Amino acid sequence: MGNCLGSSARVDATLSTTYEGSKCPSKTSNSSHPSNISIPSYSNKSSAESLPTPRSEAEILSSPNVKPFAFNELKNATRNFRPDSLLGEGGFGYVFKGWIDENTLAASKPGSGLVIAVKKLKPEGFQGHKEWLTEVNYLGQLRHPNLVKLIGYCSEGDNRLLVYEFMPKGSLENHLFRRGPQPISWAIRIKVAIGAAKGLSFLHEAEEQVIYRDFKASNILLDGEFNAKLSDFGLAKAGPTGDRTHVSTQVMGTQGYAAPEYVATGRLTAKSDVYSFGVVLLELLSGRRAVDKTKVGVEQNLVDWALPYMGDKRRLFRIMDIKLEGQYPQKAAFAAATIALQCLSHEAKLRPRMADVIDKLEELQAPKSGIANRKVVVQIENQADPTVKHRSSVNAAATPPLVSSPVPAHRRISRVR
Ligand SMILES: Nc1ncnc2c1ncn2[C@@H]1O[C@H](COP(=O)(O)OP(=O)(O)OP(=O)(O)O)[C@@H](O)[C@H]1O
Ligand SMILES: [Mg+2]
Repeated sequence: MGNCLGSSARVDATLSTTYEGSKCPSKTSNSSHPSNISIPSYSNKSSAESLPTPRSEAEILSSPNVKPFAFNELKNATRNFRPDSLLGEGGFGYVFKGWIDENTLAASKPGSGLVIAVKKLKPEGFQGHKEWLTEVNYLGQLRHPNLVKLIGYCSEGDNRLLVYEFMPKGSLENHLFRRGPQPISWAIRIKVAIGAAKGLSFLHEAEEQVIYRDFKASNILLDGEFNAKLSDFGLAKAGPTGDRTHVSTQVMGTQGYAAPEYVATGRLTAKSDVYSFGVVLLELLSGRRAVDKTKVGVEQNLVDWALPYMGDKRRLFRIMDIKLEGQYPQKAAFAAATIALQCLSHEAKLRPRMADVIDKLEELQAPKSGIANRKVVVQIENQADPTVKHRSSVNAAATPPLVSSPVPAHRRISRVR
């Protein structure tokens, strides 16, 4: 789930920070004693007419769209959280694969029924609980093909779990940065970008706007056909209402993805998400992480490093992912870089709306445009470029193995003061 932003790189920083500037109340530990946390409510339709109304924990947990699971049910569904059912690990906890009966949603035999992903919160405090509840609130109400489906939750004693539809291809992060899966093609990268853009656009254009606040490669999950779905709504926030231009919040998110003005001022708008989208689009083009501490100097920060190349047609190849082996249409790559550049505008107002981003990305996909379908093999002369050589060799050495590796240190950070 989400993180606070800042200098420390500790994995559990999120769980020990203050909540929106106020002091942390003691952790709520039992579902039968709901806390006083109130979270804005959203209709499952983007055309909701009323303004957000805070909902109590009891109201959120009684949503008809999500099933309350007993801990034992999820224990059985995941074969006692067996290590070989482990799908991944994040700051929130571990994610396990499990099976439930399609109709009754009761635990079923491994291999039969509906495949699920069960996220088990590390029992570490109020912030974790708060994010868990925010996730149930939003994903329990919002339904869209590009948002991951929340099937249910468990709140029993200190245990907090979330039950999602299983996404067979895992996260975009795994495909871009981990050794193991086949590198994803240019066409798939554009498809993923479009899917993720649609998810964000749905949130932004809803009558009761939602700002996602944690848009990054690890929160973009992929189904069997590489349809992208956003997960992790723990940091999501209601957008500004009435005459307000922004919402003021404690700075939360992930270093390297968060918009500079948000980090500097705590003023949050949908355009902060658009900036993060620009970073992910750049990750898709370059195959590099937003922040990579294994690199030196300016190369540690993807945006700082890539920016000078993005607006230059002739030099763009220098930042393109070497794993694409030149198999991308140059025109479309430059167009995608231009979109990313606009999303990364320092001035938030100059960033496009996600709806416009979708239109532009779809043009790159349309068969008639002749751009996306025309495979252009870029000369691999760039291999002669010392920068590129350095890049590929460092990447190979630094890529951690799939699944069993701990969360990369750079992703877990505490708040900016
Ligand atoms: N619904 C799902 N289906 C399949 N795999 C999933 C699902 N949800 C999560 N995963 C896997 O579990 C991993 C960990 O997810 P998690 O959301 O806990 O952490 P994260 O996104 O990597 O980090 P953060 O805590 O910052 O969000 C993902 O990268 C993905 O590989
Ligand atoms: Mg995540």
